[in-house]
Amino acid sequence: MNVVNFGSLNIDHVYAVDHFCRAGETIHTKSYTQNAGGKGLNQSIAVSRSGQKVHHAGLLGPEGTRLAELLSGSGVDLRYLQHVATPQGHAIIQVQPDGQNCIFLYGGSNQAVTPEDIDAVLSHFAPGDYLLMQNEMSNLTYMLRAAVQRGLRVVLNVSPISEEILHVDLSGVDWLVVNEIECARMAGCEDPQAGYETLKQRYPSLGILLTLGAEGSVSWKDGVEVRQCAYPVKAVDTTGAGDTYMGYFVGCLAQGMDRQAAMQYASMASAMSVTRPGAAVSIPLMDEVRAAVEAL
Ligand code: RIB
Repeated sequence: MNVVNFGSLNIDHVYAVDHFCRAGETIHTKSYTQNAGGKGLNQSIAVSRSGQKVHHAGLLGPEGTRLAELLSGSGVDLRYLQHVATPQGHAIIQVQPDGQNCIFLYGGSNQAVTPEDIDAVLSHFAPGDYLLMQNEMSNLTYMLRAAVQRGLRVVLNVSPISEEILHVDLSGVDWLVVNEIECARMAGCEDPQAGYETLKQRYPSLGILLTLGAEGSVSWKDGVEVRQCAYPVKAVDTTGAGDTYMGYFVGCLAQGMDRQAAMQYASMASAMSVTRPGAAVSIPLMDEVRAAVEAL
């Protein structure tokens, strides 16, 4: 069984601020850092650091050399990564003293993915293989349908939520990964709990992984609900926490852990990541996560 992530790659421009910039305001920043990011890249690194082999497919622009170096240095296989002339995607990220972030994206190469690119990559994978996807790539609907037709186990993270993804048919998706706001919006509801119940009814074979911030996380699949608490920590930067959770969750499932254990490890990895600055660079190794879980 293989794990492939057809995912975004961004250069993150990170600014430490006292508060998020408001309309009409110009503010000084306290520091500036350039990091590797993109939900796809972060998730691939999390899968790899969980101990599971993962292929990362996507489009790397001319400025992306350091992103590829970090991926391969973290053990991610890059044979399906395509080098293109389109500028690399990037993110402008403000981080407040409480660790909360505010992000805006420029898609760049992530938005240049074509149906032909998708078919070429997916042709290497077979029924039962995992495919991780996020909503930062072009032709997402095409990728989803092509993957479902091939019998891949699709793990779809709808973040950052958009109008287009609200209309996607989730039949055949193995796991939908959402936070509370995304859960409500995907179901067309006001309330996250109502959204969760609606999605369960609408897509009986769908697995739902719902992250609830300080309230932990809950998952639903095959008629069984599993709950996991969050581990309280002092956050310095929450960027990439959801990606760490998803990557660890899939990596642990792929290594044969049961769902409860996969959620526990994912929750611990995510908690550890927010105690460190940056997205991909803050993702812990399995040895650290295991030690922390065993010390509970
Ligand atoms: O989830 C965090 C990521 O979102 C950042 O690394 C940024 O690149 C955006 O994709």
